[in-house]
Amino acid sequence: MPEKLLKQALEAIQAASTITALKEVEVKYLGRSGQITELLKTLKDLSPEEKRSKGQEIQKLKNGFTEAYTTRERYLQKAEIDAKLQAEFFDITLNQINPQRSLESGTIHPLSRLQREVEQIFAEMGFEIADGKEVESEYYNFEALNIPSHHPARDMQDTFFLDHPTDTKHGHLLLRTHTSPGQIRMMEKHGAPLRIIIPGRVFRYEATDATHDSTFNQVEGLFIDQGIGLAHLKGIMNEFLQRFFGDKEIKVRFRPGYFPFVEPGIEMDMLWKKGNQSKWLEVMGAGMVHPNVLKAGGLDPEKYQGWAFGFGLTRMAMLKYGIDDIRLIHSNDLRFLNQF
Ligand code: PHE
Repeated sequence: MPEKLLKQALEAIQAASTITALKEVEVKYLGRSGQITELLKTLKDLSPEEKRSKGQEIQKLKNGFTEAYTTRERYLQKAEIDAKLQAEFFDITLNQINPQRSLESGTIHPLSRLQREVEQIFAEMGFEIADGKEVESEYYNFEALNIPSHHPARDMQDTFFLDHPTDTKHGHLLLRTHTSPGQIRMMEKHGAPLRIIIPGRVFRYEATDATHDSTFNQVEGLFIDQGIGLAHLKGIMNEFLQRFFGDKEIKVRFRPGYFPFVEPGIEMDMLWKKGNQSKWLEVMGAGMVHPNVLKAGGLDPEKYQGWAFGFGLTRMAMLKYGIDDIRLIHSNDLRFLNQF
């Protein structure tokens, strides 16, 4: 009888294909009312001799069971670990074995590359590159630039305000609507003379279309010294455009423009072609820095003059590369980015 039971038990152990199933087999034979346990319970009714011989028999059965159990348990544990490792296996030699699997590497975003180009050109003309702040205060974005709170020009640039007032002088925090606040910060920090550009992202709360996005990139320029006039601005801009666009044929026009922080102010448009249509795109505002702005920056307007400009790098990119929708630039669409 015990041999038959052992045979059954060993078969059950071999058939268990998981640790859980194996544990169930153990309960079935060695649990509180397991078959081997029940057999042991019958011993107490036997005579001493019978008890000895039966007892040895059952002990042998139990040992046989335990041995097979432990072996199977080790085997199943190892199998489970192997399966896990197999699932996690990552063949680092794959690319060497298969050279035709090319490695994809990232490249610099076209806008960043253009910004570097612009920086390079202005650096060669003696300009320093400076950084502004993307989160500004009402004071730097408006007041110091001669745009008091009641001024209608504040409506020209719809603003993202942060729900966070600073002190009363600086007003609310906001996302800068232009790079011009950097003019004041640079004057405060370095005084005059100054020859800098400040590239960066700006934000406007407006509806987007093919030529407007709520986030775009500008490059601010500021040139302050004694005896500076608009003729210098025109000279620098001509040189810049020639280097930036190279051989590409471009048409520009200058016209008077109004910005509270310059006097007089001008605007530069460039001809943008889309299919067989073309239209003038406003690309840059500029002018002689207003005396109030020089004062806000801590400079003496009787002693120093200068000009400032701010152009849309994103719009320049559209013209340079013939991009017909500004929103593509920040779309992160690889079909677009891979063209550069
Ligand atoms: N800050 C202006 C704008 O964003 C551009 C500008 C800069 C105009 C400097 C004049 C001088 O529209």
